[in-house]
Amino acid sequence: MSRPAFPALRMRRLRRDDFTRRLVREHALGVDDLIYPVFILDGEKRRESVASMPGVERLSLDLLLPVAEDCVKLGIPVMALFPVIAPERKTADGREAANPDGLVPRVVQALKREFPGLGVLTDVALDPYTSHGQDGLLDDSGYILNDPTVEVLVRQALVQAGAGVDIVAPSDMMDGRIGAIRDKLEAAGHVHTRIMAYSAKYASAFYGPFRDAVGSARNLGKSDKKVYQMDPGNSDEALREVQLDIAEGADMVMVKPGMPYLDIVRRVKDAFRMPTFVYQVSGEYAMLKAAAQNGWLDAEAVMMESLLGFKRAGADGILTYFARDAARLLRAG
Ligand code: PBG
Repeated sequence: MSRPAFPALRMRRLRRDDFTRRLVREHALGVDDLIYPVFILDGEKRRESVASMPGVERLSLDLLLPVAEDCVKLGIPVMALFPVIAPERKTADGREAANPDGLVPRVVQALKREFPGLGVLTDVALDPYTSHGQDGLLDDSGYILNDPTVEVLVRQALVQAGAGVDIVAPSDMMDGRIGAIRDKLEAAGHVHTRIMAYSAKYASAFYGPFRDAVGSARNLGKSDKKVYQMDPGNSDEALREVQLDIAEGADMVMVKPGMPYLDIVRRVKDAFRMPTFVYQVSGEYAMLKAAAQNGWLDAEAVMMESLLGFKRAGADGILTYFARDAARLLRAG
């Protein structure tokens, strides 16, 4: 191709006016792209703010219902539930995760009863339920056991599906859990339950505020999750993880965290052409909020730019604590 020459070619022509910028824009963020994560509490009339996540609250079901109604009004397709489990219910084996009368199944039932058209997603992982804050069961040396953990995860997913959840999202990073969950869901007749696999989930320091929010930070102490979550230095490995989850029966795949891993989103989307999601995690939210609160960044502008970046990288949808704020802005045009 011959090199188009200046001045015949001036790239700035199409940037001159808002109408041409809109006309040639390749990617757009829509309300349909958003999944709203919420932190849920047992009891009634309970509302707690999360210090490291300004604007985010833990809510009991009665106070969550108006939030769900707001999501419906805004057109947000899915809400993702993260439980805060009382310390006395946490055990080494996290058995509360598979309690059919537990917090998550009760909230799922209430949400599906009140707002049948709102999608509900639940995390499949043991960390909110374990006394040690890890996503799985430990052996005597403290190593996280794979296959026994998968058995508990399967029971947890079955309880969630039994409560009527639309999407289960295994976030534990155990090997083989997608296939095990899919098999047991099918066997139990839950043929419509969708699996969104946290496929490429990295051992990230950006999860810090989330662990405060669900109250697992104290249990976890100085431990990390590097023996099961992915090493931030790897990207081919992310493709292998995604490939396995697809082969095992995932309907949708996810990359997490978001902003430092846009290259992974792009590679996954290009390689598999699957519905691909990205999680803009708690630490990403916290840093944007903190800078905005200091007056160092324009809150709305960086929120929308960061979300558009995910779309440009190839994401079909985004889990983000900004979902309602972004949806309100999109609605307002
Ligand atoms: C639990 C889970 C985590 C997040 C989602 N599910 C934390 C972790 O793996 O330690 C993080 C979400 C966020 O930081 O916003 N397995």
